Amino acid sequence: SYNGLALTPPMGWNDWSYYQCNISQQLILAQAKALVTSGLAKKGYDTVTVDDCWLAPTRSSNGTLQASPTLFPKGMAWLGKQIHALGLKFGLYEDAGTQTCGGYPGVWGHEKQDADTFASWGVDYVKLDGCNVPVASGQSALAVYQKEYQTFSADLVATGRKIVFSDSMPAYFQGTSDWQSSISDASKVANLWREGADTALGQESGDAKWDAIDYNYSYNVGLGKYAGPGHWNDPDFLLTGDSGLSTTEMQSQMSLWAEMSAPLISSTDLTKLTPQALAILGNKRIIAVDQDSLGVQGHIVQRGKNYNVLTKPLAGGDASVVLFNSGNTSQTISTTALTAGLKGAGPFTLTDLVSGHQTATNGQISAVVPAHGTVMYRVHRGTTGKLASAVSMAFANGAL
Ligand code: GLA
Ligand code: GLA
Repeated sequence: SYNGLALTPPMGWNDWSYYQCNISQQLILAQAKALVTSGLAKKGYDTVTVDDCWLAPTRSSNGTLQASPTLFPKGMAWLGKQIHALGLKFGLYEDAGTQTCGGYPGVWGHEKQDADTFASWGVDYVKLDGCNVPVASGQSALAVYQKEYQTFSADLVATGRKIVFSDSMPAYFQGTSDWQSSISDASKVANLWREGADTALGQESGDAKWDAIDYNYSYNVGLGKYAGPGHWNDPDFLLTGDSGLSTTEMQSQMSLWAEMSAPLISSTDLTKLTPQALAILGNKRIIAVDQDSLGVQGHIVQRGKNYNVLTKPLAGGDASVVLFNSGNTSQTISTTALTAGLKGAGPFTLTDLVSGHQTATNGQISAVVPAHGTVMYRVHRGTTGKLASAVSMAFANGAL
């Protein structure tokens, strides 16, 4: 990676989709504490990012950025210290243009000064949005954005502080002929970059939330060639915990995001997580797929009516397989270990990554998958222990 960081997809929490501008230093700290007390921090969700609206409406007289005196009266260096004292990393939002999407001062014309300010505040992660980038008539928007993101990325590196860089440029070139160039450029100067639409906001309806998850999944799933250790496609926040999504739908987003090596960034009220939501976000077997050291984004190997089968190769030779039913009625989805990329003879061990339950197979992989649901297996060649004796008995009985 260009800066040696984010060798596995970043993980953490961001306020935006749940709170938008209704933030304060107390709220951010309460959420940071909940990240720790819930146990999620220990599982890898280690970065707390304050999104738009943290800024004062103007820069100080010498041009430095300043925090909103009403929302963050103690300032961002103080906030960073509190976050670090909890064992967490501190992330901040800014924008490449003259103003953020919410209308606060952007970094345009102040790139080096702002990168230095962030480093002096102890910032570990910067999300740089792409609103209000001034493109003069006759200029190529791609060239203007490229130059701005490259400049800021280099300025962050030059601070000497290890700062993960989240780039939003590709989100501003969707649907244009420069879209692929924008991703390929982001993959060279940033650790992650936004793909697809904004996931729905906390107060939007459940349907809007599922539609946004499904849309961002479909958008992101084909972009694996850009992803790898240090540089990741970011299909936006995990909405697990929000009202309006069923447990099945929350589980599907988590499983699909992990399969796509997506950053796992929760945006919900962490102080109100139900046991089900906490179990989904904290599932170690699924987090391990996301954080696998090979860093290969999963891809579709089989499509059918309202379903996809995805596979993601894992370090050590296992594969993670997701059976995803995007339709509105339950269906049986079947594939094989060979289709999932595991050549040669079985038996294989299938570990259901939600329940942890293991079964043996000679290659068939099949499950009844509910509407909007996923079944996710880790496929391992060979069997051990109890499973091995069960398999040899099944062989003896002619079942395998
Ligand atoms: C590792 C951690 C992530 C994130 C990145 C940042 O990948 O697992 O949570 O902190 O580092 O580089
Ligand atoms: C854009 C981004 C969101 C959020 C808002 C803040 O919409 O895509 O993630 O940062 O701006 O204004």
